Amino acid sequence: MIILGIESSCDETAAAVIEGPDRMLSSVISSQIELHRPFGGVVPEAASREHLAKIDIIVSEALKKAEIDQTAIDAIAVTRGPGLIGSLLVGVCYAKSLALGLRRPLIGVNHIEGHFYSVVFDNPPIRYPALALIVSGGHTNIFYAPEEGVYSLVSQTRDDAAGEAFDKVAKLLGLGYPGGPAIERLAISGNPDAVRFTRPKITDGLPDFSFSGLKTAVTRYVRENNIPTEFNGESVPQPVADLAASFQKAVVSVLVDTLKERAEILKPATLIIAGGVACNQALRSAAESVARILNIPVYFPSKHLTTDNAAMIAAAGYARLRRGESHNAEMTADPSIRLARRNGIGKTRYKN
Ligand code: KG4
Ligand code: ZN
Repeated sequence: MIILGIESSCDETAAAVIEGPDRMLSSVISSQIELHRPFGGVVPEAASREHLAKIDIIVSEALKKAEIDQTAIDAIAVTRGPGLIGSLLVGVCYAKSLALGLRRPLIGVNHIEGHFYSVVFDNPPIRYPALALIVSGGHTNIFYAPEEGVYSLVSQTRDDAAGEAFDKVAKLLGLGYPGGPAIERLAISGNPDAVRFTRPKITDGLPDFSFSGLKTAVTRYVRENNIPTEFNGESVPQPVADLAASFQKAVVSVLVDTLKERAEILKPATLIIAGGVACNQALRSAAESVARILNIPVYFPSKHLTTDNAAMIAAAGYARLRRGESHNAEMTADPSIRLARRNGIGKTRYKN
């Protein structure tokens, strides 16, 4: 079975063709990073206009790279949320008309479930129960999946997502956008133990995340220690590299410690770490050592599948179609759709 995946939830216009659950025939991504860079973040209106300009070209390229024409497509999977409404609509409308024209099933995919499936291309099949840390610019969640397609929310962020914290701290330090890769690069030459940031405390006992306090702590540190944040093309001073490394260490340890705690309780058969921040090598190394201690395999997507892409959407769509789920032309984009709620581990089913 051949699935065309389409993704346009934020600032990447992407299309991919996969065969069966995990054979990637093509994956094409057009990033809007340069368009949004001068603004230090994604400008929603500009994003949807750019998706509109690119989507047909990107889909054609994905089909060409896969060496198939439209008639070979068996089903179309598209991100229906969460994301920016104007951006989502471009992908959803395009996918709907293609599905109608070709008379093929349409599957609306939750973007977060897409990140979960981004690991299928480069790892052995996921064994359930699985425990997944999905960590990106918009989301920081741990989900427990007792069986395929069933999710319950274990942890969420109370304020900023981890990727957002990377982006905000990078902006503060004058490192540009997007912040994650810039901080990771700089952290290599920094001392992660130079600044000790206190770990955020969630007082109601839930295993949630909070990153805005960390961002405030970095702001305060910069001010109180006169850390330079404008380099005018000169090399970055050592205190900035030290700060970047210390901040990265604080984020990574909060993420990995929480995942470890939950894994000890829930005893999953597989750990999954996905989303844009899963590209971070410090996070990968820390998670790998925890996985070794727990004796549970940890799956990451290959680095080009950590940020938004359509191969993961096609894979999530394939899994849903195999279970007999698809949508009709009534399907709409839903910018705030949730994968699961927190009302008892394993009890929440994801409904469309
Ligand atoms: O999954 P993604 O492409 O988009 C969302 O769905 O949000 O994730 C983008 C986020 C950005 O916040 C970016 O700074 C972060 O992932 N990111 C990283 C790294 N690469 C990307 N964060 C830390 N280290 C990285 N190497
Ligand atoms: Zn994403």
